[in-house]
Amino acid sequence: MTNKKRLLTGLQPSGSIHIGNYFGALKPFLDMYTEYESHLMVVDYHALTTLRDRDALTENIYSIVKDYLAAGVDPEKVILFKQSDVAEHTELAWILQCLVTVPFLMQAHAYKDKVAKGLEANAGLFSYPMLMAADILLYDTEIVPVGEDQRQHIEYAREAANKFNNTYGETFITPQEHILKGVGVVPGIDGKKMSKSYHNTIPLFATRQEIEKAVMSIVTDSDGERPENVYAIHQLFASEDALDALYKENEGNYKALKEALIEDIDAFIAPMRERRASITNEDVANILEAGARKAKERALRKMMDVKERIGVIL
Ligand code: ADP
Ligand code: TRP
Repeated sequence: MTNKKRLLTGLQPSGSIHIGNYFGALKPFLDMYTEYESHLMVVDYHALTTLRDRDALTENIYSIVKDYLAAGVDPEKVILFKQSDVAEHTELAWILQCLVTVPFLMQAHAYKDKVAKGLEANAGLFSYPMLMAADILLYDTEIVPVGEDQRQHIEYAREAANKFNNTYGETFITPQEHILKGVGVVPGIDGKKMSKSYHNTIPLFATRQEIEKAVMSIVTDSDGERPENVYAIHQLFASEDALDALYKENEGNYKALKEALIEDIDAFIAPMRERRASITNEDVANILEAGARKAKERALRKMMDVKERIGVIL
């Protein structure tokens, strides 16, 4: 181990990632991960709380790792692994669940929101924050880059760490969330938050045709000088100065502005798309296997200490 600070994050393999995920979560990770001792997870057991289609889950796992790699994650500079390969995550999650109360877990916004949206309130969905706490605490993680919606889950991880430390002695580091200010929420083609569940996305690895279709259907208000929804997305791909000139020159000409946006998105995505096409399922399997070996070694060491402290080692 080096004395660099430890950083860890994860994304659920629950569908194709979009430019909101990229600018809100993946890009901030890419910008900082090499300065830390970093862990990047595919949290497949978390996805199991909402996904029961075997083939879709397998496909999504391959897909998200290809997305990570094509977006620029260097597997030599991060421990890239999937959660289900390191059984210590579910093992520690159980121990942590025995330290927190049902009323405490019932306050989780993410759980309440998902149930309000009609998702089944299964016990996995309910105890989800303790599996996430285990993901984080097992690796002595200090920094967790996430989107705003995950802030409370990091508080839950801190609470679990404190409960354990108070009961059994100093064992876990209390982690800190890293939430980028100013990234805000990337709007979808209908102006609402871009989200897989709203069907309003521009997929990160869209084909040229898919980009054209999505951009042409961005909702524009008919009276404004500047089509705000187009501009808000365009800002992610071009400098303010370039956009000022372009939007002045084409004032009121929404079609020309959308065409310019298509060009800019396509120019940005094309190299990643090409890189992604060259990554095979076998590459993914090899990278995950190597990552699992490294993660497992660390997790086992930490769990030995935990088991010793709770009194199950004879
Ligand atoms: P979705 O809403 O599409 O299902 P997820 O909940 O899987 O996305 O989010 C994965 C990560 O991407 C989270 O860290 C979340 O904060 C971030 N994220 C999702 N949508 C956006 C958006 N429109 N703008 C900025 N960040 C986003
Ligand atoms: N709950 C996170 C999300 O839905 C995913 C996640 C699981 C995670 N374990 C984690 C994120 C550990 C950061 C660290 O986006």
